[in-house]
Amino acid sequence: MAEDEGVDGGIGIKLARTVRICQNNACRKMGANQVLKAFESNPVEGVAVEASGCFGLCGNGPMVLVLPDQVWYWRVQPDEVAAIVDRHLRGGVPVWAMVYGREVKR
Ligand code: FES
Repeated sequence: MAEDEGVDGGIGIKLARTVRICQNNACRKMGANQVLKAFESNPVEGVAVEASGCFGLCGNGPMVLVLPDQVWYWRVQPDEVAAIVDRHLRGGVPVWAMVYGREVKR
């Protein structure tokens, strides 16, 4: 899939992706602002990057949500953002080892 095609929403409409990075207190204490800056410095055409309020998953942050995929990343560090950008946002495949709720503990 070309990066500018977006994600098929299942009804034949291509949806652009949005990456939301929690900027509430708990995630900020764990470096969420640097994670936001890392995404902003690695722009991908057709992908919006937004600061977000609390997702209710405090203590697992910095939390990152990719929409419309509904993929949650947890404990994201700035040096891990490149992998999400390259493999998920450009390549279309989530970085499963970093996905919240998977068997792999980080
Ligand atoms: S402070 Fe980030 S999920 Fe609550």
